[in-house]
Amino acid sequence: MLSRLKLKNYGFTPYELFPTSYKLFPIPYLYPMRIDIISVVPELMHSPFAGSIMKRAQEAGLAEVHFHNLRDYTTNTYKQVDDYPYGGGAGMVLMVAPIDKCISQLKAEREYDAVIYMTPDGDVLNQGMANALSLFQNIIVLCGHYKGVDQRVRELFVTHEISIGDYVLSGGELAAAVLCDSLIRLIPGVLGNETSALTDSFQDGLLAPPVYTRPADYNGHQVPEILTSGNTPKVEAWREEQALKITKQKRPDLLE
Ligand code: 6GU
Repeated sequence: MLSRLKLKNYGFTPYELFPTSYKLFPIPYLYPMRIDIISVVPELMHSPFAGSIMKRAQEAGLAEVHFHNLRDYTTNTYKQVDDYPYGGGAGMVLMVAPIDKCISQLKAEREYDAVIYMTPDGDVLNQGMANALSLFQNIIVLCGHYKGVDQRVRELFVTHEISIGDYVLSGGELAAAVLCDSLIRLIPGVLGNETSALTDSFQDGLLAPPVYTRPADYNGHQVPEILTSGNTPKVEAWREEQALKITKQKRPDLLE
């Protein structure tokens, strides 16, 4: 399904880039992926990283996530991180100095492949971007809050600007958690079944086919017979057919 239906440029997954090594050695990396998240409200992100796949990845040493509270990097006595916008208007703007201090400290310790700013006017996240970013070793994720960051932060430090969709969130924190989840699950070894990230919706440009589990008959509602037939090639063909049908129905734009 994967090779035949490469419908759009969705980038490469680590599995595709290291096809032999991931089979011989489940983990082709020597170091975990390190993500440093900078925010004024890091506590907003704690729970998404404290369970399920993202927790397992950290426990397995495949991903390292560090939260940095911008308030710990303030340069004035009031621990001030934001100020009024020049020219007037509603809302506050995150100041350059604390962000500079935090990023500079991190950069003094190691090299970073990307400094990502989460912002509703960034490039809208898709699977291709997640695949590409998951290959990075060290990344910084900066969360905007209030009216955003002083434009000079974007000019001086930011290498990528990412949004998670065309709607407004109160800050970049939840978006950062979404981004990190999409990256961490792609790190080889994170998902139990190595192929399962490849069969996700979008990974081959199609939505995923329906799935069923026991019982085969639920109050007269039957599981499609082919799935209980034990005929793997037929099952695969059925799934491909379903994926195509569902994509045509729900997201014809993916096939254009
Ligand atoms: Cl990254 N930030 C905010 N504040 N709102 C968003 C977003 C990010 N992505 C979609 N909406």
